[in-house]
Amino acid sequence: MKRFAILTSGGDAPGMNAAIRAATLLGVGKGAEVFGVMHGYEGLVAGELVPLLPKDVASIIRDGGTMLGSARCLAFHERPVRDEARAHLAAAGIEGLVVIGGNGSLTGMQAITDPAENTTGLKAIGLPASIDNDVGVTRLAIGVDTAINTIVDACDKISDTASAHDRTFIVEVMGRDCGYLAMTSAIASAANAVLFPEMDKSEDEIVDTVARAVITAHRREGRSKKVLVIKAEGVRITTDRLQELLDAKVKAELGHHVKTETRVTVLGHVVRGGRPSALDRQIASRLANVAVQALLSGETRMMAAWLPPIGMPEGMVKPASDPQCSLVDIDRVLTETRAMLDGSSPFVKWRKKVFQEVEDVLAL
Ligand code: F6P
Repeated sequence: MKRFAILTSGGDAPGMNAAIRAATLLGVGKGAEVFGVMHGYEGLVAGELVPLLPKDVASIIRDGGTMLGSARCLAFHERPVRDEARAHLAAAGIEGLVVIGGNGSLTGMQAITDPAENTTGLKAIGLPASIDNDVGVTRLAIGVDTAINTIVDACDKISDTASAHDRTFIVEVMGRDCGYLAMTSAIASAANAVLFPEMDKSEDEIVDTVARAVITAHRREGRSKKVLVIKAEGVRITTDRLQELLDAKVKAELGHHVKTETRVTVLGHVVRGGRPSALDRQIASRLANVAVQALLSGETRMMAAWLPPIGMPEGMVKPASDPQCSLVDIDRVLTETRAMLDGSSPFVKWRKKVFQEVEDVLAL
């Protein structure tokens, strides 16, 4: 393979630029010509291809976001649009694609290389990049570690003011339908309660969980009454409604004379920005290395995975040159992703069980 292109798609993630840099340097180092696709699949359909040389990626490892831009391209679900994309690549003599993104991006990669329609013989390898960490068969996706650090830094700041005023703060974090960011940042920021979609709690049970943490804080002697609650955005109760029901329940329990104040902070897209952490730079660079080596050696329809979960069926995971990485069939990745999101994945069941065991301890 003499020419391949790199594409970033979907929600940007800190570390995408580190992956672009590594893939470019490795490709050029192996004698290939490397191109970038601007603005994800939307740019691919429009033929927005730019050459990438070492000078173009020299200093981007520390930059958040993606130098290639990104987009969400719903039209990519249609076969004629994918035909157009393949035609642009073939016309440029580009035989391979490195796709860096989350579930939607990897699904697009699966479709554009589907043997039933792939008339140009395009090959592609995927890299998991999504702060949600909701991609199957990889322990971490690119961007997750940085996002957790961003949330913990914000919660440390919020804890200062919550302690000063003995307040309860509900901090909402991103993650779409996955609670991984909420779970991990709750542990690291010593949250008193955490809410995530996988717990499948009713509205009343959610209010009870948070109220228990607040009442515990108000009843303990000689300690701050501040309460930090981390709520994943995928939990189906609005933060305002939670605040209203919580205040009513706490006053009913403690008496209306007790001063309890609740404030809400929605972190939103702040969680997606910032300089990538050292770990994300390393994961991105090492996954890119595995992906480019696989692509140049003729592999396709695989994803480079970081520390895949234990217990994978034999043959589904190919060892890679890097002992911390492996290559996983894209169909297997997306099947496991669906299982993670519908809760049937043994990995998600394990995560939920671990949390149920410690949930009451968080409030102490
Ligand atoms: O998938 C990453 C993510 O940040 C989710 O956590 C969030 O729900 C979504 O993207 C937001 O999408 P957009 O940036 O298109 O508003």
